[in-house]
Amino acid sequence: MKPLLATLPALALPLLAAVLVASPISAARSEPDAATKTRLTHLLVQDCGSCHGLTLQGGLGKPLLPENVSDRDAEVLAEIILDGIPGTPMPPWKGLLSRDEALFIAETLKRGLPQ
Ligand code: HEC
Repeated sequence: MKPLLATLPALALPLLAAVLVASPISAARSEPDAATKTRLTHLLVQDCGSCHGLTLQGGLGKPLLPENVSDRDAEVLAEIILDGIPGTPMPPWKGLLSRDEALFIAETLKRGLPQ
């Protein structure tokens, strides 16, 4: 999928839309409640922001702005968040975050932080 997107940028958006629509993410999943969402957004800014920058513009860790991650699958981003990236400073968060919480964070990254 990556090389296709790279060679045919005009197809990227429709393809992404198709992938998102077809994605089973919303199937068996419980959305975090409002208080949890607030806590996760706080964690995203404070904890993730300590490496990725307080506005997620990048620092020790890569920038995580919508323009950097909008073409990435939320499930894949959630896996990275849960497992970390071995051999780099990116730590695994699975001790602290459930899968649904990691998915919420991944989707928040794709949408952009609330203003
Ligand atoms: C201790 C520093 C540190 C913290 C804290 C941290 N990260 Fe990272 N993160 C990194 C580094 C460094 C990388 C890049 C690793 C590499 O070289 O590929 C990374 C990579 C990532 C990537 C992959 C980006 C890409 O373009 O492939 C995602 C997604 C990510 N981090 C999300 C998060 C989230 C969400 C949190 C908070 C729950 C978080 N990170 C906390 C250091 C950190």
